[in-house]
Amino acid sequence: MELSTQKLIHTFGALADLGQEIAGAGDFTEMVRTSMHLLLGTLALRRGAVVECSGPTGPLTCVAVWGLSDQIFNELEIEDAEKQAFLAGEPTELLVKNTPCTNGFLNRHRDKLTAEGIELVFPMVVRGEVTGLVLLGGKASGEEFSSDDFGIVRAMVRHIGVGIHTHRLLEQVAQRAEENRRLYDELRAIYRDTVRAFAAAIDIKDKYTQGHSERVGRYSEIIAREMGWSEEEVEGIQIAGYLHDIGKLIVDRDIINAPYNIDAKLSSDLNRHPAAGYEILAPINHPYADIPLMAKYHHERLDGRGYPDGLTDEQIPLGAKIVSLADSFDAMTTDRPYRRRRSFEDVVRDLRENSGKQFDGKVVAAFARAILKEVKGEIKDRRITKLLGKGYLENERVPTLLTDLITDLEKEVSRKGAKAQSLS
Ligand SMILES: [Fe+2]
Repeated sequence: MELSTQKLIHTFGALADLGQEIAGAGDFTEMVRTSMHLLLGTLALRRGAVVECSGPTGPLTCVAVWGLSDQIFNELEIEDAEKQAFLAGEPTELLVKNTPCTNGFLNRHRDKLTAEGIELVFPMVVRGEVTGLVLLGGKASGEEFSSDDFGIVRAMVRHIGVGIHTHRLLEQVAQRAEENRRLYDELRAIYRDTVRAFAAAIDIKDKYTQGHSERVGRYSEIIAREMGWSEEEVEGIQIAGYLHDIGKLIVDRDIINAPYNIDAKLSSDLNRHPAAGYEILAPINHPYADIPLMAKYHHERLDGRGYPDGLTDEQIPLGAKIVSLADSFDAMTTDRPYRRRRSFEDVVRDLRENSGKQFDGKVVAAFARAILKEVKGEIKDRRITKLLGKGYLENERVPTLLTDLITDLEKEVSRKGAKAQSLS
C-alpha cells in the first residue's frame, strides 16, 4: 500500500475516533484532551494546546495541553479584530515563523509562541466565529507542514471546535433549566405561603375553629399519601384542604360564629360557602389540578344528601371526598364552645356508620390505616397524634378499634367491587 493511502486511512480512522470521542457523554475535559492527542498523534506532533475564547475579546482559557509550560497561557489574549484576521487569512499565514504577517495575534505573541516551540496556530471556527485556537508544535520528524497536513488539521480542529461549542451550549441549557427549576420552586413556595396566609384569614373569621383549615390541609395530605397519590397530587390536595372553606370569607361573621343556633335562612347562607369558594378559586391558575372542585364539593355526600349540587358517590371527585372526611374528622375531634370534642371511640363509630352514606369507605379505611401506623409506632413523624394533642389516641382499645374498622371497610369495598363487576 502506498504511503499516502496509508496516511489517508489513518486520518479517516483518527477522524472516526474523534467523532466518537466528541459525541460521547464522558467528561468534557477528558474529551478535549483525547481529541487533541488524536490530532497530535495523526501528524506525529510533539506538543499542542486547545485554548478557548472567554468572550468577544480578552484572555484565552486553556482547555487541554501537552508538552507546553502553563506560563504561556497567562499571557495569551485575543482581540476581536484579530479573530477576523484568522477568518480571512491564508492557511500559510497561520505558521508562526512566517513574517511579515497580517495576523495581529501572531505578531503580538510570536516570541512567546516560538519560545514554547509552537509552529502553527489554527482557529476553531463555529458558525463563522472564532471560538478558540489550537496551538501546535512541529512534527517529530522535523518536516514542514504540507498542504495535506493543513487539510487534516482543519478537519480535526473543526470537529474539536464543534464538540466544545456543543458542550458549552448544553451547559447553558442545563444552567437555564436549573435557574427555571429554582424560580419555579420559589413560585410554588410563594404560592404555598400565600395559601396558608389565606387559610389563617379564613380561620380568624371563625373564632371557634382556629387552625381548622391548616389541620384539614394536613389530614387531607396524609390520607392522599396513604392512598398512593403522587407527591404532586399530595401537595395539591394539601392546598385544597387549606382553601376548602375560602367561600366563608363572603359569609357574614355572625352566621359563621353561630352554627349551633341558626334558622333555615341563615343556614342556607352558610351553605353557599362551597359554591362561593369555587367562584373565588376557579379564575386562579393553580399549579395543581382540581383545587376549585375540591372546595366546591367538600360538603357533598355519597347518598346525595349533601350540598351544593346533591351529587352521589361516583359523581364526587375523590379529592373532594378526602377533604370532606378531613373536614368532618377535625370538626369531631376539636372542642367547640357548645360541646366538647368526641372521644376517639365515638369518632370511629361515626365513621363506621357514615361510610357509604356520607364518606367513601376507601377514604375512611386509608385514614384509619394512617392513624394505625402512627399508633403502632411504624411512623417516626407522628403528625396525626400531634394534631390531635397528647393523650387522645393513647387508649389501649385504639389499635383494635382501627383494625376492626379497616377490616370491615375493606370487606365492604371488595363486596361493592364484586357487585359492580357482576352488574357490568
Ligand atoms: Fe366547609
